[in-house]
Parts: sequence; C-alpha cells; structure tokens
Amino acid sequence: MSAPFVHDLIPGRHPAASVPKLGVGLQYNPALIGWFPFLEQPLDVLEVLFDGVMGPLDGPGLMWPGKTNVLDAVAARFPLIGHSNYGGDFGFSPVMSTAAARRHVPLAKRYAVPWVSNHCFYGEESWSDVWSSPLQFSQAEVIRVAERARVLQDLYGVPLAHENAAYYRSCPGSAMPEEEFLAQVVELAGTWLHLDLHNLYTNAANFGARGYSVERFLATIPLERVIVIHMAGGRWFDAFYHDLHDTRVPEPLWELLENVLARASPGAVILEYEAQELVEDGQRLDREATTDAILSDLERARSLWDLAYGPRSRSTTRFELR
Ligand SMILES: [Fe+2]
Repeated sequence: MSAPFVHDLIPGRHPAASVPKLGVGLQYNPALIGWFPFLEQPLDVLEVLFDGVMGPLDGPGLMWPGKTNVLDAVAARFPLIGHSNYGGDFGFSPVMSTAAARRHVPLAKRYAVPWVSNHCFYGEESWSDVWSSPLQFSQAEVIRVAERARVLQDLYGVPLAHENAAYYRSCPGSAMPEEEFLAQVVELAGTWLHLDLHNLYTNAANFGARGYSVERFLATIPLERVIVIHMAGGRWFDAFYHDLHDTRVPEPLWELLENVLARASPGAVILEYEAQELVEDGQRLDREATTDAILSDLERARSLWDLAYGPRSRSTTRFELR
C-alpha cells in the first residue's frame, strides 16, 4: 500500500455519469477485421480495443498508420466505445508512464467515446501471464488499484469501468472474493463496472465446486454501476473450461443476460468473438457459418435488450419507428 494515496480517497464520491443507452454491438476484434461484414450490420455500437491500434510508446504517432483509416471508417458508421487490455492500468509503474495514460487516453478523446473499460490485470511489466493472472484481491490492493483507477478516470474525462476477469488460479495473498474487491474499488474510486458474463460462467465452471457463485457475485457488486456487459463463448479442454471466445454464446448465458438486464441499466451489450472460424460440436465452422452464428447471437441479444428496455431503446431503432 502506498501511504500518500490514502488521504485522497473519499468513499462515496461518485461522479454523475452520463452513460448513453446505445444498445447491442460487437467488439471490433482483430480476428474479425478484414472479413466480417461489420459495415453492413445494424450495430448499435462497436467496441474498439485500444491496444490493437495504438502506436509504439516511443514512436511518433498515436496510432499505427494503417489502422487510422480503418478506425476512422467505422467511427463514421457506428458509435464507438473503448476498451483497454494491455494499458498497464493496474501495474506498478507510474500511472503517467503507462500505455493507458499515454496512448489510450488520447485515443478515447480522439474518438469521443462515452466511456472506457479496462481489464483487471497487472499488465505486461509486472506479470507476463497476463490473461490468467487476476489481481491480488486484498485490502491493500483495493486502495492502490482504486487510486490508479481514479487518476485514469480523471484523465479520460469519461466513466472508466473495470472488467471482471476469467482466471484459472488465484493471486497469492488474495483475501476476499473478486466481487467484494470490485465493489470496494468502485466505491473508493468513483469508477464503474464492466460485467463480463462469460467470465463469470468460466469461473463458475472451473471453481463452482470450490464455492464460486455467480449469484453471490451479482448480489455483491453494485449492479447500478454496470455500464457495459460482455457476452462470449468458450470450450472445455484439459479439465478446464477456457474463455476462448471461439464459440457461440453458451445457452445458459442468455438466461443470465435476461436476468441482469432486468436488474441493471447498462449502456451496451457487446458480443466478443476472437476466431476466424468458430467451433461447434468440436468442428470448425467455415467463414459463412461463422458469420451466420455471430449474426444469430446478435439478433438474440437485441431481442433480449428490446424485451428489457423497449423496441426504441437502441441507437439504431431510437428514431426509425417515429
Ligand atoms: Fe470480456
């Protein structure tokens, strides 16, 4: 714990967020770019991974030159939201030196995103096994992480939401469940939550026998602070269920989404796919079948959104029925 941070933290000081009700969209994932017909879809929103477009920290430009035109084209077509995976947000180097502060903040401003979400990992400078290495869920880390979150949210100037993780082991020194950790961080920092339902599903599949509970998670986090929801798929192998994003959304997640939409009020539901050919019943689908599967999942998500919030509540339907 870093003492100078503590006196700055004033619990309950939540900025009033203006989170637009956008609707249902896709993550603009590099695995799909170039072949998936994004521009032909009635997407309410597109989630951009800042890590994939940012230029080198020691380079002259904010973005890779080749990515600029591509992103400008989709920005002209869809509302964009931002997501930061490898920003070093919660690592141990000074916040102002991180990719989040030096690249993701200006990217968020360039595209005027209404919010940014980040993944709760330490980052590339502290622990190389980024994806399966959760934060240490401890009281000391609540304070350290909340301070960094508050600084980053101030830099962004829009709500910053933290995504719950899928993981395959816990961090040594953890002393509380992830849901309690996240609830305390957002309370201290005045930040927000990005709820990944497939990450909950993954952790329940792997650790349910050891007491992990989706119901307890959802009963513990402040659902009113959830501003975006992720849906994805995965597969079993080597005795673990893996968060691979290479299948359709599993059936139980749809019921969970309906339940959460009735209890929370997110600005978007984002479907995540990270494969050029999805897997179904152990077989790889071809591109055409993969496209159909994604479009079918999108339609299902839109119907649940409309069930919860009405047929005119998405960015693509708000005006057309008048
Ligand atoms: Fe996610």
